[in-house]
Amino acid sequence: MKTTVTTFQQAKDEGRKLAMLTAYDYSTARLMDASGIDAILVGDSLGMTMLGYGDTLSVTMEDMVHHTRAVSRGVSDALVVGDMPYLSYHLSVEQAVENAGRLIKEGGAQAIKLEGGARFAAEIRAIVRASIPVMGHLGLTPQSVNAFGGFKVQGRSEAAAQQILDDARELERAGVFAIVLECIPAALAEVVSKSLSIPTIGIGSGPLCDGQILVYQDMLGMYSDLAPKFVRRFAEVGALMTEGFKAYQAAVRDSSFPAAEHEFKIDDSVIERLR
Ligand code: KIV
Ligand code: NA
Repeated sequence: MKTTVTTFQQAKDEGRKLAMLTAYDYSTARLMDASGIDAILVGDSLGMTMLGYGDTLSVTMEDMVHHTRAVSRGVSDALVVGDMPYLSYHLSVEQAVENAGRLIKEGGAQAIKLEGGARFAAEIRAIVRASIPVMGHLGLTPQSVNAFGGFKVQGRSEAAAQQILDDARELERAGVFAIVLECIPAALAEVVSKSLSIPTIGIGSGPLCDGQILVYQDMLGMYSDLAPKFVRRFAEVGALMTEGFKAYQAAVRDSSFPAAEHEFKIDDSVIERLR
C-alpha cells in the first residue's frame, strides 16, 4: 500500500514508528521498497555518497532531479521525498516553489525536504500552497556546515535548544508534514517530538523521535569517509562487495569464469566454414 503524508500522520497518531532510508538509484530503491520501508529520501547526501564531494554544497537541482527520477522508477509503495539542494530555495520564494515543483513534476517525488527553521517559513508556506508536501529539517543541517564550523551536534546550550524547539513549532505552523531532527541531544528530540502533532524523523537524535532515517551506505557499511557515532551497521555490504570484486578478479585470472553455462552457442557448421 502506498505510504502518503496522511499515513505518515496516522503513524504518529497511533504511535507506530516510521522507518526511512536514503536512496539515490533505481535498483537500490527497488530493494528498499520491496523490503517495506515507509519512505525514501533522495537526499542531497548523494553529493558525498554517490559523487564523492566532501560536503553537500556542490549538489545541483539537475543532480537532484536526475537521482529522484531514478528512485521514483523503482518505488511503488514508499513515499518518495526529494531533497532541495543548497541555494535552490534561498534566493526567492518564487524560485523555491519552482524548484520544489521540479522534484515533483520531473523527479516523480510525492514530497520535498528543505533545511532550516523559521527563516524559511515564507518559502515553506508557498510550496505547501502549491500542494507540495514539505518535510522540515532542523539541528545539524549539513548545508550550513561552514556556518556551524564543522559537522557538530546542535542544540546543546539552552538558547540553541530553545531555538530548535521554536523553529520546530514554527515549521509545524507553516504546514510541514514531518521534521527531520539531525544530531541533537536525545532529550531535546524527545521534547520536540512530544510538543508537535506531526511526526519527527531522527538521525543521531535518540530513540524517542517518531521515526528514524539513515543514509543507506552508512547502515550497510559501504561508505567509510566519515564514521558517525550514531550509525549502526545493519549489514557489512561493503565487505561483501569487496569479497565479490576479489572473487571475480581471481576467476577471470584463472579462467574459471566465464564457464560453459555462461556461453552462447552457435551451430558448428557455421564455424567450420569460417575456419
Ligand atoms: O541528505 C540526506 O541524506 C539527509 C538525511 C540524512 C536526513 O538530509
Ligand atoms: Na540532505
